[in-house]
Amino acid sequence: MVKRTPEEIQAQREAWLAKKAAKKTAQAPPPAPAPAAKPEPAAKPEPAAKPDATPEAAPKADKPAPAKPKATPKPKAAPKPAPKKKAAPAPEPVDPNISRRELLNYAWLASIGLFAVETVGLSLWFAFPNFKQGEFGWAFPIGSALNVLPEVNADPVPFTDGKFWLVNLDTEGPNGEKRKGIMALFKVCTHLGCLYDWIPVTGRFECPCHGSKFSLTGDYIAGPARRSLDRFVIIAQSPDGSEIQTDADGNPLEVNGDEILVIDTGQRILGSSDITPA
Ligand code: FES
Repeated sequence: MVKRTPEEIQAQREAWLAKKAAKKTAQAPPPAPAPAAKPEPAAKPEPAAKPDATPEAAPKADKPAPAKPKATPKPKAAPKPAPKKKAAPAPEPVDPNISRRELLNYAWLASIGLFAVETVGLSLWFAFPNFKQGEFGWAFPIGSALNVLPEVNADPVPFTDGKFWLVNLDTEGPNGEKRKGIMALFKVCTHLGCLYDWIPVTGRFECPCHGSKFSLTGDYIAGPARRSLDRFVIIAQSPDGSEIQTDADGNPLEVNGDEILVIDTGQRILGSSDITPA
């Protein structure tokens, strides 16, 4: 056994301590990454840490790992700019041509609407005529029979406002049928609507337009007319109002002579078309 001096022992001890200190320093772990550093997947250890690493890699593991650039805290990525919102499409400028077209369309629609209103109004006016008592188209009172009736089979009496002739008959029709009583004959010709006249000389009604002729009874005699004269319904009321006579077909109505007569010009009975044109 070699005997050493205390100085050698002390030197050896210091050398051992220095070696140990150096070893500790070599085995010290690398500095921890800054807490701000995000645990990026790239910060994972390199494949050298895998078991199948080459023998040369093993000694390197003992050495303090050099600070990898990946461990350096990356600067935070700048926040992505918010997606730009699509700007609302600007309103199209008003085209003056389109406005004029629309105006014309509105005017066209308004004219159609006005025409429809007028048509409906006229239809209603004709459907519901505004006749009044005592006017043509309504009950037309002519007073007492004593004052207005013509003589039997004499010239008829015209009622211009009522548009009828009043006749007083006691005769026969064209086929020999009896015609006795009073009748109100419409003053308009049954051919094309002219106003015919009573011709005393001939003793018949004659139309100045095309020459149609009718007897005092209103029956067709000759001319282009294709039916006898039209007539109105007569209403005869007794003087005390207790009795009323009428004939819904407008045939001659027999009266005593003191009745109050009303001609219903709203009820026109068409003349017979059972005629033999001359
Ligand atoms: S209108 Fe009377 S005959 Fe023609």
